[in-house]
Amino acid sequence: MDVILAEHAGFCFGVQRAVDTVYEQIESRGKDEPPIYTFGAIIHNEEVVGDLQKHGVRVLDSLADAAQIPREERGTVIIRSHGVEKSVCESLKELGFEVVDATCPFVKRIHDIVERESAAGKSIVIVGDEGHPEVEATRGWSHTKTCIIGSLEEAEKFAPQAGEELCVVSQTTFNYKKFQDVVEIFEERGYNGSVVNTVCNATEVRQAEARELAARVDVMIVIGGNHSSNTRKLYEICRQECEMTYYIQTLDDLHLRLPESVRLVGITAGASTPNNIIEEVQNYVRINF
Ligand code: F3S
Repeated sequence: MDVILAEHAGFCFGVQRAVDTVYEQIESRGKDEPPIYTFGAIIHNEEVVGDLQKHGVRVLDSLADAAQIPREERGTVIIRSHGVEKSVCESLKELGFEVVDATCPFVKRIHDIVERESAAGKSIVIVGDEGHPEVEATRGWSHTKTCIIGSLEEAEKFAPQAGEELCVVSQTTFNYKKFQDVVEIFEERGYNGSVVNTVCNATEVRQAEARELAARVDVMIVIGGNHSSNTRKLYEICRQECEMTYYIQTLDDLHLRLPESVRLVGITAGASTPNNIIEEVQNYVRINF
């Protein structure tokens, strides 16, 4: 039996880079140096966060949290891939932390655009979900008024002032089609300004690849956390193409009894599934079937 692992299974580039940054910091840290922190959980995966904890990495949930750390314990704070507001970076430095920025470069690009365009006087429109940490962080790089548009209804209601110049960007994980629809409404109304498509296609690529793989294989295994909405979506996509699709969290959930006719097994994984879990499942299937 052959096993095919989807090329884009698991962490996207930005999340992988952030997790790698934390492990690099752990390795380069001397015994007597102050601890390493991440500003928010580096990723929504208990295994990864638990492992980092074992290595002494602590999670700071807010600036108030950071301010409570005794001075001598204020070590390095790693910013996760979502990024943070400019003021958060500055406050952490003022508190005496060393800041290591693991903001995904695609997110950082948005911060740079927002900072530059707002400095030139434009108002910033972020097409994305209000309250999402990435959107809130992006907002914090603007010198001018910002507005968040999460739906077509909100786009319809939006009314800039006469002569107001806009710069429109998107949350990286926002649905591209929806972003285009919002932009279309703005264009129809003749709003003044520039539009930068900052949607990252990592999610789309992962889904398209899963669909294509599921259509080719006899059995499909989707790995990811129970509460991971992007893994559930992957499962649904694969299930449409391949009846024998299994959703597992770790190898422990895999109780496969496969018919003899099965020749090809496909594996993919959600965005917060670490590589070691994917590899474990892949090796198990290769060896046991
Ligand atoms: Fe991931 Fe960066 Fe795209 S964090 S989803 S590669 S914007």
